[in-house]
Amino acid sequence: MVSRRNFIKIGLAGSLTLATQGMVVAGNPGKGRSGKSTISTSGDTVIKIFSDQIKAPVKLMVISDTHLWMSDEREDPFRQYSDRMSKAYNQTKDFQTLADTNPAQEFEKTLALAGRMAPDAIIILGDLVSYPSEAAIEWAKTRLDATGIPYYYTNGNHDWHYEGMEGTEIELRKEWTRRRLAPLFRGENHLLYAADVKGLKVLMLDDSVYEILPEQLEIFRKEMKEGKPSLMMSHIPLYAPGFSTGYGCGHPDWNASTDRNYEIERRPRWPEGGHSKTTFTFWNEVIKAHKKHNLLATFAGHVHRQSSSLVDGWPQFTVKANLSGGYYEVDILPMPD
Ligand SMILES: [Fe+2]
Ligand SMILES: [Fe+2]
Repeated sequence: MVSRRNFIKIGLAGSLTLATQGMVVAGNPGKGRSGKSTISTSGDTVIKIFSDQIKAPVKLMVISDTHLWMSDEREDPFRQYSDRMSKAYNQTKDFQTLADTNPAQEFEKTLALAGRMAPDAIIILGDLVSYPSEAAIEWAKTRLDATGIPYYYTNGNHDWHYEGMEGTEIELRKEWTRRRLAPLFRGENHLLYAADVKGLKVLMLDDSVYEILPEQLEIFRKEMKEGKPSLMMSHIPLYAPGFSTGYGCGHPDWNASTDRNYEIERRPRWPEGGHSKTTFTFWNEVIKAHKKHNLLATFAGHVHRQSSSLVDGWPQFTVKANLSGGYYEVDILPMPD
């Protein structure tokens, strides 16, 4: 275990929290850096990443936290586990129009927008469904397939979670990913897989139990060694100073004493001793990967709000929940001359 004091020292080195509008957030080419990159954001939805390692533009649509909740009779044996979440987000408000809406309507609106925007891929950062409803997963997959746009999905903490079901988080994630969510992964390793989008490496990390497993750290190292321009996508944001334990992957305060929702969500309480050594090691390697291995930025959902942070040069963005129409248009572009 990394001591709290040492961890904080590492975490705070060179950190800077950002405004989210029209700001260049990365771009200090230093010694040992594998490439130059800058980032500009404008409004609620547009992020432009420039890199001297990118030869042709790549456009991504990034969404998270749609929280679809519909079901059919196949759900009947499981309703004792899904009752609360099936009512959690039935009525929502569109963040732009402030009109009453709902997750299914916002998802369809977002996919219609993707049709006009024509991204090279749609990236789905989990909590697509509020519980592993077969009807909701099939409904979403049918609509995604109909766009004709390649899409890549990773799990959120709700996609596989049946509240009150016996078992550890890691066991239950494995079981319900296999039983319900596997079609969205299309044969890829849900723990961590790399998608190639026009030469851009997009790492899809399943950190939906907040912890990183040794197998995930190993795959991450292997992928980073290739040194290609890359982005990392996950559900739970990585820790950055100033953020709550919702930004829980690698957060030094993530432990049993800060777990406020384990009774409501009927799941095992976070561990007394906090994160595993592997999770802290992973966090530290992600920070360094920005300078060392061309990891241009990371994106996450889970907190349902837009935020950005910069820690020792490593930029992270969280996207507003898609249940209210949130999305990012991310353009990865060659560095201007
Ligand atoms: Fe969520
Ligand atoms: Fe979540």
